[in-house]
Order: sequence, then structure tokens, then C-alpha cells
Amino acid sequence: MPKDLTNLPIAITGASSGIGAATAMACAKAGMPVAIAARRADKLADVATKIKQAGGRVITVNCDVTKPEECAALIDATVREFGSIYSVFANAGYGVEQSFLSQTDEEIRAMFETNFWGSVNVIRPALAHMTKAGNGHVLWCSSCLAKIGLPMYSSYCASKAMQDHFARATRHELRSAGIFVSSVHPIGTKTEFFEKVEGRGAKLLSKSPERFMQPASRVADAVVACLRKPKGEVWTSLPMRMGLGFAGMFPRLADFALARMMDQRMKRAT
Ligand SMILES: NC(=O)c1ccc[n+]([C@@H]2O[C@H](COP(=O)([O-])OP(=O)(O)OC[C@H]3O[C@@H](n4cnc5c(N)ncnc54)[C@H](OP(=O)(O)O)[C@@H]3O)[C@@H](O)[C@H]2O)c1
Repeated sequence: MPKDLTNLPIAITGASSGIGAATAMACAKAGMPVAIAARRADKLADVATKIKQAGGRVITVNCDVTKPEECAALIDATVREFGSIYSVFANAGYGVEQSFLSQTDEEIRAMFETNFWGSVNVIRPALAHMTKAGNGHVLWCSSCLAKIGLPMYSSYCASKAMQDHFARATRHELRSAGIFVSSVHPIGTKTEFFEKVEGRGAKLLSKSPERFMQPASRVADAVVACLRKPKGEVWTSLPMRMGLGFAGMFPRLADFALARMMDQRMKRAT
């Protein structure tokens, strides 16, 4: 029997645009009070207005996920406003297309600070409430790229793999506490993500053909479906999931295909 999500509060980071904003709307429509967080207050306010217009309950919290105290304040605000917290979606993140040799240690660390530590920073204070309540659902927004290393995206893929592995291990650790842990693995999704990556000089990933791109609402709907009926990994593309499973079984063949794909993209990009 699918879980009734009515009145089960959720906190969502990176909710000022893209997947986070779409998921906040989908959760609100499912009856969940939502606490939406990001750094851009104006964008958050726009998302909140749309949620209210759709009849949802929402609060906005300004939060930089690299700052643990701001993440703790987000969880405190959620509990203060809605009385409890049932779920947290650690979704804030960004990508960079850059070779390892041209990246500084500071740039690599900065990516891990947001994509990985930014998740830990918000999940840890949420878990303090969930373990007391004896139930809850933690969601990590990882990526399909958690399962394969894409050239020029080594730190991004590594940060997404860290989230994936953390989610998988803690899923088993927290099961006896009544808490479910899921990782979400979007494929290319039409959000600001690609504009921002392009803005930082990307040439390869931004050239993904349109037919491989999905709307953010598809990820949002899949997240809500997972909240209703928990599962370990959330995928929105069966061919991608199967392809990456195959790539794991046959790494040499996967390297061959990846090398060809990257050569073609390099040619298109130049
Ligand atoms: N789009 C894709 O193809 C794709 C595919 C796989 C996985 N993903 C993952 O999906 C997640 C959401 O990305 P998106 O596609 O929706 O891109 P997006 O539209 O650029 O959204 C990224 C969100 O993260 C927030 N954010 C970034 N750094 C932050 C920080 N330090 N503190 C707080 N918030 C921060 C941004 O808000 P502010 O700038 O307002 O703070 C924004 O709301 C990311 O984790 C990304 O890795 C995306």
C-alpha cells in the first residue's frame, strides 16, 4: 500500500531552480509541507509563490549547504514551522567540465564541499529528529554519472559516486531505526545545470542531443513515487540504467565506447 504523504514535512536543498524546485512542487501537491532552501532568496520566493498558488504549505530558508550551521538552521526551521520532519532531499549541487590537470586542489575540494559535504551537512541534523521519531526518508540527489567516470568530469562524477555509496551503506545502517535511504540518479535534465556548466566553459556535456534530455518534473515525480513506495535507487531511464549495469560488467568495452563517444563530442565541440 503506497504511503500517504499528507502532512509529512520535507526539507529540500537546491530548491531555487531545476530538480529541487520541481520536486518541491510535486511534494507539496502530494500534501507534504515543504521547506525549500538555497542561496538565491528571490528565486526561492518565486518557487514558494507558485507552491502557495497551487495550495501547498511552504517556507523558504536561505542556506548555503557548505555551511553546517545554515543546514542545521534549515532543519530547525522545518521542525519549528511544521512540528516535525519526515524527509530530507539533499539536492543542491553543481557541475564543472574541466580536466584533472587544469583543476586546482581548491576547485576539487569546493565541488566535494557542495555536492558531498553539502548533503552530509543537511542529512545529519535531519537524522537526529528521524531517529527520535523512529521513521523518516533520506534522499540523496546523485546522478547516473555516479556509476561511470566521464572524461573532463572526474571530480563531479567522484562527488556523485560518494553520495551514491554513502546512501547505499547508510540504507542498511539505518533500516533498523525505521529510516529509509534512497539515491536519485537523474540522466541529463533540462535545468539551469547545463547553462551554469556552459558558463564555466563546458563544450562536451552541453552538446548532449535534445532527445536524451528529460524535464525536471520527471525526476520530481519519481522522487514522490519513491517517497510513497520506498526503493533504494531512483532511476528515470531504464536504457541508461541497463547500459551502465552493462558498462560495469564489461569495463573494457565500456572504455572503448566512451573513448569513441568523447572523440565524436570533441569533434563536434571544435
Ligand atoms: N541537470 C542534470 O542533468 C542533472 C543530472 C544528474 C544529476 N543532477 C543533480 O541534480 C541536482 C540539482 O541540479 P539541477 O539540475 O536542478 O541544477 P540547477 O537548476 O542548477 O539547481 C542547482 C541548485 O543547487 C543550488 N545550490 C548550488 N550550490 C549551492 C550551495 N552551495 N548552497 C545551497 N544551494 C546550492 C542552487 O541554488 P542557489 O544557486 O540559489 O544556491 C540550485 O537551486 C544537482 O545535485 C545535480 O548534480 C542534475
